[in-house]
Parts: sequence; structure tokens; C-alpha cells
Amino acid sequence: EKEHQEKTKVKNIQSVELGKHELDTWYYSPYPEPHASCNKLYICEYTLKYFRKKKTLLRHLAKCTLRHPPGDEIYRSPPAPANDPSLVGGAITNPPISMFEVDGKKSKVYCQNLCLLSKLFLDHKTLYYDVDPFLFYVMCEKDTQGWVNAAPGQYFATATPARPAASAAGWAAHGFYHIVGYFSKEKASAEGNNLACILTLPPYQRKGYGRFLIAFSYELSKKEGRVGSPERPLSDLGAVSYRSYWTREILEVLREHKASLSIKDISDKTAIRTDDVVKTLESLSLIKYWKGDHIISVTQKIVEDHCKTIANQKNIEIDLNRLHWTPYR
Ligand code: ACO
Repeated sequence: EKEHQEKTKVKNIQSVELGKHELDTWYYSPYPEPHASCNKLYICEYTLKYFRKKKTLLRHLAKCTLRHPPGDEIYRSPPAPANDPSLVGGAITNPPISMFEVDGKKSKVYCQNLCLLSKLFLDHKTLYYDVDPFLFYVMCEKDTQGWVNAAPGQYFATATPARPAASAAGWAAHGFYHIVGYFSKEKASAEGNNLACILTLPPYQRKGYGRFLIAFSYELSKKEGRVGSPERPLSDLGAVSYRSYWTREILEVLREHKASLSIKDISDKTAIRTDDVVKTLESLSLIKYWKGDHIISVTQKIVEDHCKTIANQKNIEIDLNRLHWTPYR
């Protein structure tokens, strides 16, 4: 009933300004009044605090010392090689990525703000205030500038001129971590979910970040020695992204292991739950039933088609040597 009421609420906030981006919102989000009745909100990209006026955001930024999500940096992408093919015409198309683990209990307000922000792009999730039982894995792009949109089309670095010079240099050295997406995960999930909610902020969508976040959630499951699955229901975009991820992982495993594999073998290798493995194989028509047993049949043609498909996918590899994480206890 409550869920239904929330769902049918009319979209309130039309746009938000976050770092250098102005985002058009997709859905209703229960920001408290008076912010809920604003057309536009101004959000600090580090604390995710929200303001009704640009002026107040700027005042906040002049004092705010946070330059990354309030948690532990548990992953940092490898440095770009000297002849990085992603350095096209001097522009970095694959910027450095970091993942931060933020505890809903320790950084309650930040996580609540993150849920309110993400609700603007999710239509069926109802978690906003009870964040204690969750961990949040926040993905950031790192650069050397903190940007704030001072006027349409005009930017200035948040570190200058409002800040003391010494601190500005310090900030520049450490970098600015700009949130691009996240996923949340229950500290202890009775249903065996390894992901509750996932979001890539719209300006960063369709670059492979969603796939990276999904892959990351399964890497954490592998470290826990468990299988996992996302919380249901999935949105349409969530379903597309998961189907693509599962298909690729499963076909990769089948390609590498020429010998026959069982559903359980595939699940063990990928941390993908067996019912998700079965569903994916069914959708690819790779599974047959014979006297009550599943039989997986992969032809050379399917493997070849698969190789063509993945050549067109955006895939940001996770370098496991750079993941520093132990399961939550
Ligand atoms: N239309 C068609 N295909 C799409 C679209 C789209 N708009 N967006 C992504 N895809 C496909 C991509 O082509 C890719 O498939 P491919 O590799 O086979 O080509 C796959 O989905 C993943 O693409 P990414 O670029 O890695 O994903 P992205 O960063 O865009 O993030 C996400 C996907 C997180 C679902 C994003 O769309 C989003 O945040 N949506 C709004 C929030 C949402 O719906 N979250 C999921 C809710 S379900 C849950 O939380 C458990």
C-alpha cells in the first residue's frame, strides 16, 4: 500500500545540479520539505547535501573539506600505461576509477542523501532512511579539479579562489573524486542477495560502468565464497544490464572449459546463482532437458557469435590485485 502510494506520486524535482552536471530527473523522490517542492536542487557532489539555492551550495562548498565519499577506498583502477589507447588526442576517455565502501550506520546522512538522489532515477525502490543494515559501494572518477557550475556554461574550480592556497594545493594533489554511480548491499541478506540497488548517474550511463558495478558485486561474493543475485524486482534497464553480464560471464566460462560443465560448476566459477544461470542458458537456447536433467550444449557457432558480441561491449576490467576488501562481519 505504502509502496503504491509512493509510486503514484507525481515527480516533484525536475532537475538537480551535481558537480559539473545538470541532470533531468526521472521519478519522484521523497526529499523532505521544503526541498520536495523545489523545481531544482543544488547538490554537493561530495557530501550529497542538497540546497534550494546555488548561493547556499557555494557557501557550503567553500567550507566543505570532503573530496571523496566518506568511506574506505577499496579499489583503484591501474594507472594508464604510457601508450594508453584510451588517450585519444590527449583526452582521457578512460579516467581513473575508485570504489569506496561506505557504511550506512557510520555515515548515515550521506547514505540517506545517496538514496534520495538515486530515487530520482529509480521508480520502485523504497529505501531512504533505514540505511544502517546496508553497505554502499560508490564509484568515482578521479581528476585534479573540483568543478562547480558557476553559471550556465561557465565553470570554476571549487578549490579556488574561495579556499586557502595551501589547502587548495593539498586537494589538487590528492584529487577530486566525482560520484558516477553506486550499488548498495545488505550486510546480511537472508535471501542471499549480493546487490540491493544499482545506479549509474545518467551522464555516465552506457559507458560500461553499470557492468563494472555488477561485476564488482560478484567479485565481492567470490571473496565471501558465496553465490549471489540482485534484489528483485529489476527495472527494465537493470534487467538488460544483468542479462548482458550473465550471458558474457557464462559464455566465457563455457568457452574456456571445453569439457562439459554442470550448472553448479558454472555457478561456482562465476558466483552467479544457479537459477540465474539456468534462465540465461534458456534464453540463449543452450539448455536441453533429458530425463529430468539439464544438458548444456554449446556449438562452435555460438562461441564465435559471442566473440563478435563482446568485441562491441564496453568492458572495464577489474584488476583483482587492486581490490582490498574483506567480507563484512
Ligand atoms: N537501452 C538499451 N540497452 C542499454 C541501455 C539502454 N538505455 N542502458 C544500458 N544498456 C545495456 C548496454 O548496452 C549494456 O549491454 P551490452 O554490454 O550487451 O551492450 C548493458 O546494458 C550494460 O550497460 P552499461 O553501460 O554497463 O550500464 P550503465 O552504466 O548504463 O548502467 C544501469 C546500467 C545501472 C541499470 C543504469 O541504466 C541505471 O542506473 N538505470 C536507472 C536505475 C535502475 O534502473 N537501476 C536498476 C534497478 S534494479 C536493481 O537495483 C536491483
